[in-house]
Amino acid sequence: MVHKVKGVVARSKGAPVTLETILVPDPGPGEALVDILTSGVCHTDLHYKLGGISDDFPFLLGHEATGVVSAVGPDVTDVAPGDRVVLNWRAVCGNCRACNRGQAQYCFNTHNATQKMTLEDGTELSAALGIGAFVEKTLVAAGQCTKVDPDADAAAIGLLGCGVMAGLGAAINTGGVKRGDTVAVIGCGGVGVAAIAGAALAGATTIIAVDIDAKKLDRAKELGATHTVDSSDSDPVEKIRELTGGFGADVVIDAVGRPETYKQAFYARDLAGTVVLVGVPTPEMTLELPLLDIFGRGGSLKSSWYGDCLPSRDFPMLISLYKQGKLDLDAFVTERITIDQVEEAFEKMHSGSVLRSVVEL
Ligand SMILES: NC(=O)c1ccc[n+]([C@@H]2O[C@H](COP(=O)([O-])OP(=O)(O)OC[C@H]3O[C@@H](n4cnc5c(N)ncnc54)[C@H](O)[C@@H]3O)[C@@H](O)[C@H]2O)c1
Ligand SMILES: [Zn+2]
Ligand SMILES: [Zn+2]
Repeated sequence: MVHKVKGVVARSKGAPVTLETILVPDPGPGEALVDILTSGVCHTDLHYKLGGISDDFPFLLGHEATGVVSAVGPDVTDVAPGDRVVLNWRAVCGNCRACNRGQAQYCFNTHNATQKMTLEDGTELSAALGIGAFVEKTLVAAGQCTKVDPDADAAAIGLLGCGVMAGLGAAINTGGVKRGDTVAVIGCGGVGVAAIAGAALAGATTIIAVDIDAKKLDRAKELGATHTVDSSDSDPVEKIRELTGGFGADVVIDAVGRPETYKQAFYARDLAGTVVLVGVPTPEMTLELPLLDIFGRGGSLKSSWYGDCLPSRDFPMLISLYKQGKLDLDAFVTERITIDQVEEAFEKMHSGSVLRSVVEL
């Protein structure tokens, strides 16, 4: 059976998104059909719309979602109809070279649904991050469904499906922030603020938020920053060193992803410290650093994909901390919108006042 539902599609590069009728097939082997409850509007959806990720238009947008499984393929045993799930874009394969060495968080062969969702005329859709969640029903690989506690706000926990997990994980998993560490986070959008919350959760005692927009710094304080630096009018490297006894921070997270912010992160960390790049650069960006400084400052320079998370390990653990009041996921949900308001949500991203608009279906 084919299900006819409404979904948000980017038809061509830069064009406003449109609400379309989507045809969703029943799940085949290894697949699950999910009724979407909520889906956050992420910067990556805007990148897809603007053609910044690939040219495989039309895209079915949305990927930070909570839903309920409505049907599964014949061989699927890990999830069942009725399960509350957060969707993930890291359904690990279990037998690539990363998985084989016990590092499934780097899985090089993650799974998506095999069948395609289409427009009414049969045009195949490319699902954003292999999900596509601004839609009433979506088809994913069963491994993309992480079973979670049904008794938690869908809008808040769905954000673990992408940006919030990327930031939390950049601090906790990739950066390995420990109790008593000093941490600086450059760029305090959704990802950076989540990294701040992650550093606070891990017990960092000094957490320095850096941004060029003062509004972002106020919110960073609410989520755990102990100090703020407005880098539009001061040198963040100097300030971070001042705030860490003259040494630099143990872990510096670049949640912007530009050559100048990476360079700030590189020089604002203590000797033998860690730099984590979680912001995504664009293809034309390059960086020059003295090789002797790279050697002489020691430590590690790491990149963080999806917060090096394992959804089945990390989502339930973080939802438990949320329910205990130790992780304020509600603070990331700025507004709840309807499925026809995604284009407006993209416009609001530029105003700096919204961390996440979440579509309720
Ligand atoms: N690695 C991953 O898996 C992953 C996952 C999701 C998003 N991301 C990336 O993380 C980055 C941040 O995402 P977001 O949703 O927080 O974006 P955002 O646009 O909400 O936030 C970016 C922040 O950086 C600030 N900023 C811009 N230039 C700056 C500068 N020169 N110095 C200091 N601050 C500066 C902005 O004021 C803003 O507060 C993006 O590049 C996004 O693509 C990465
Ligand atoms: Zn694998
Ligand atoms: Zn995202």
